[in-house]
Amino acid sequence: MQFCDLNRQYEAYKPEIDQAIQSVITSSSFINGKEIELLEKELADYCGAKHAIAVSSGTDALLLALMAYDLQPGDEVICPAFSFFASASMVSLLKARPVFIDVSPVDYNIDVTKIEEAITPKTKGIIAVSLFGQCADFDSLNVLAAKFGLWIIEDGAQSFGATYKGKKSCALTEIATTSFFPAKPLGCYGDGGAIFTQSDKLAAKMKLLRSHGQSARYYHDAIGINGRMDTIQAAILRVKLRYLDSEIELRQQASERYSQQLFGMVMLPMVIEECKSTWAQFTIGLADREGVRKKLTEKGIPSAVHYPLPLPKQLAFSNLPGYSQSFEVSELLSDTVLSLPMHGLITNEEIDHVCDTLIEILKG
Ligand SMILES: Cc1ncc(COP(=O)(O)O)c(C=O)c1O
Repeated sequence: MQFCDLNRQYEAYKPEIDQAIQSVITSSSFINGKEIELLEKELADYCGAKHAIAVSSGTDALLLALMAYDLQPGDEVICPAFSFFASASMVSLLKARPVFIDVSPVDYNIDVTKIEEAITPKTKGIIAVSLFGQCADFDSLNVLAAKFGLWIIEDGAQSFGATYKGKKSCALTEIATTSFFPAKPLGCYGDGGAIFTQSDKLAAKMKLLRSHGQSARYYHDAIGINGRMDTIQAAILRVKLRYLDSEIELRQQASERYSQQLFGMVMLPMVIEECKSTWAQFTIGLADREGVRKKLTEKGIPSAVHYPLPLPKQLAFSNLPGYSQSFEVSELLSDTVLSLPMHGLITNEEIDHVCDTLIEILKG
């Protein structure tokens, strides 16, 4: 059994994917071109954002978004304490400072009630991650950001395709980012990502920064990066985007099956009312996480820990005040969470096998 069976997915869409890759090779248009333009339009239409900009990774998407907001050394950005490293590290890369906020024990997303006390005159914005596929509380976040004149970026690396109160992830804030890392709900065959924005001005700026600030061939108006998406990845993503909704539906059914069988045995993930998760991960909580994980591995069941260390406790952030502060919920989650096999083509038999094995282990 695989944790995320990408091979099964490839086999399911093989003729279309092979054809898409072959057509890029035949056209020799490896950088930019028609596939990128079409993908950008389809991504924007899918989530309801005005602009989508295809880029080289979810990390570069965050970097470009922060550059578009002109983040300066010494500026502060509010970030959740429990997420993947890139959600905060791009702030540090620009010599600004991530200010970590604990997450909610209900949905594991940034705890909006704790943000206000962390805002200082140096605070410029908030990066809110929609963790494990469920959107953060963007109604409250947008109100708070407007009150203090802050920008807000949704890091939707795990949530592209999710719904928040009738709206789609990546169209909930002025700028949002996502990742197409292979194991993401919409993944390509290498690195890839996208930025979404409602602003014409910011879209133009991010497109410029994505390509070395180049306004015309070999004329550079700003310092940017090489952050373009490979055209082959765009062609693959265009095929997979057509199946995203049906895969998310299957993930939803899989999560319900997991929850029914594991009810009362483990801490189960919760989805807030009026929201739909992409179920990028199905993450449970266990007191003896390490012991159970070891036994699952012995019995051939793969699992993963997202994430074993809260961000403020990472060595790379040891220069920040958060290193010595306590983040109660994030620390508890880091000690107890375990993600079970989950992907868009997982079968009922596989879920039942994971649950039966897990229950057997828990009953000792
Ligand atoms: C929440 C979050 N943000 C950012 C990223 C970075 O994306 P990428 O790996 O495409 O650079 C990831 C990828 O795992 C992620 O999960």
